[in-house]
Amino acid sequence: MRKPFIAANWKMNKTLSEMKDFFTVFIPLTVNKSNADIVIAPPFTLLNPASEIIKGTKIILAAQDVFYEEKGAYTGEISPLMLVDTGCQYVIIGHSERRQYFGETDEIVNKKIIASKKAGLGIIFCIGESLQEREAGRTFEVLQKEIQKGLNEIEPSKLVIAYEPIWAIGTGKTATTEQAQEAHSFIRKQLIKLYGNIASELCIIYGGSVTPENIDSLMACEDVDGVLVGGASLKPESFARIVDFKQS
Ligand code: 13P
Repeated sequence: MRKPFIAANWKMNKTLSEMKDFFTVFIPLTVNKSNADIVIAPPFTLLNPASEIIKGTKIILAAQDVFYEEKGAYTGEISPLMLVDTGCQYVIIGHSERRQYFGETDEIVNKKIIASKKAGLGIIFCIGESLQEREAGRTFEVLQKEIQKGLNEIEPSKLVIAYEPIWAIGTGKTATTEQAQEAHSFIRKQLIKLYGNIASELCIIYGGSVTPENIDSLMACEDVDGVLVGGASLKPESFARIVDFKQS
């Protein structure tokens, strides 16, 4: 049985006071109301205060990125151990915005996963095709390559795969339930090839314009085990409704 995994990626949003306002509303709305793993990934600057605020709740803290070296002269970077130190249990790695704007390759993504696992962090590993790749019929090829290279030499404990079609991110264009299920089922088959039967227990979550309006139908797909939410996770009422999705 896979436990639903509902994660918020706040990206470069929220100050300290905005975060406090969020949790003041969000925690009472969700406390003891959900069986899902609820994960929140604020920007680095808010990890420490977030960790204090969520103490005693079932909210899990995640970071949005990490560097692969343990320490040293890497100005501006954050190590896996530093994330553990702030109370993070998970880290998002390979988000398409990192790949697109910061030149992250599959090889860099792989190194980040290796270093983070060594520090004991769970991984939310993002993959997904661009519109151009989808229209050229290359979706499966892209997903296969990202999985093969990103997960090279990685064992599957505390590993969550996030399928985020780039054309659906921040565009209001969600993948249809058929498109999501098709991609997730393909991803699970690749994971079974890599890891055997244990892959049937791994969470594969969907990201890209998830909203309170489409969450129930997405979660009804057999291989959609959760979601990674950007824009709609910034408002407490909206993210609380997503966490409280209706099981069909
Ligand atoms: P949106 O939900 O804003 O489309 O963002 C999705 C995403 O990139 C989550 O990581």
